[in-house]
Amino acid sequence: MKSALELLKNEVLLKDDTLITSKTDLKGNITYGNLDFTHYGAYSEKEFLDKPHSIVRHPFMPRAAFKLLWDTIEAKQEFFAFTCNLSKKRQTYWVFVNVTPSYNENGEVIGYYSVRRRPSKAGVETTMEIYKQLLLIEKEKGLNASVQFVLDYLEQNKISWNEFIIGLQKQAEVGGYR
Ligand SMILES: Cc1cc2nc3c(=O)[nH]c(=O)nc-3n(C[C@H](O)[C@H](O)[C@H](O)COP(=O)(O)O)c2cc1C
Repeated sequence: MKSALELLKNEVLLKDDTLITSKTDLKGNITYGNLDFTHYGAYSEKEFLDKPHSIVRHPFMPRAAFKLLWDTIEAKQEFFAFTCNLSKKRQTYWVFVNVTPSYNENGEVIGYYSVRRRPSKAGVETTMEIYKQLLLIEKEKGLNASVQFVLDYLEQNKISWNEFIIGLQKQAEVGGYR
C-alpha cells in the first residue's frame, strides 16, 4: 500500500480548460458529476452516483480541511480551497475548488455544488506545506488542534480563509499554473 506522499508523486495535471463539476445532497452524496469529473476521477457515473464524495478523497488531505468546508457551507457561505483528489486509478489530481450551497424556491438549502479548475503553482505549493503540518498536528493532538492552527494562522495574518485561497490562485498570473 502506497503512502500519501508516494501517491502525490503519481500526479495528473488539469488542462487550462478543465472544469470539474459535481453536485451533492445535504450529506455529501454525489447526485451529479460532469464529463471532466468522470475523466479525472476515473469512476463511471454508475460507480459514483449516490456515493459519498469521499470516493475521491486523498489520504494526504487533513481532516481539518473538510471540517472547515462543512462548517462554512452549512453556515450558507461559499468555500474555496486547494485540494488533491485520488482517482480510481490511484492518480493524484490537484484542484482549485469552489463549493456553494444550492437553494430551492423557498430559500432552503437542498444540496451543494462544486466547481474545480486548474490550480496555481503557488496555491498547491503553499497548501502542501500547510497540509503536512496539519496532518502532523492531527496525528499528535487531534482534529480540534489542527483546526485551531488554521484559525490562528488566519488571525495572525488578518485574513479570511477564502481571501487567503483566492489570493494564492491569483498568483497564477505571475507564477503560472500547476
Ligand atoms: C459539493 C461537495 C464537493 C466535495 N468534493 C470533494 C472532493 O472533490 N474531494 C474530497 O475528498 N471531498 C470532497 N467533499 C467533501 C466530502 O464530502 C468529505 O467531507 C471528505 O471527502 C472527507 O470524508 P471523510 O470524512 O469520510 O474522510 C465535497 C463535499 C461537497 C459538499
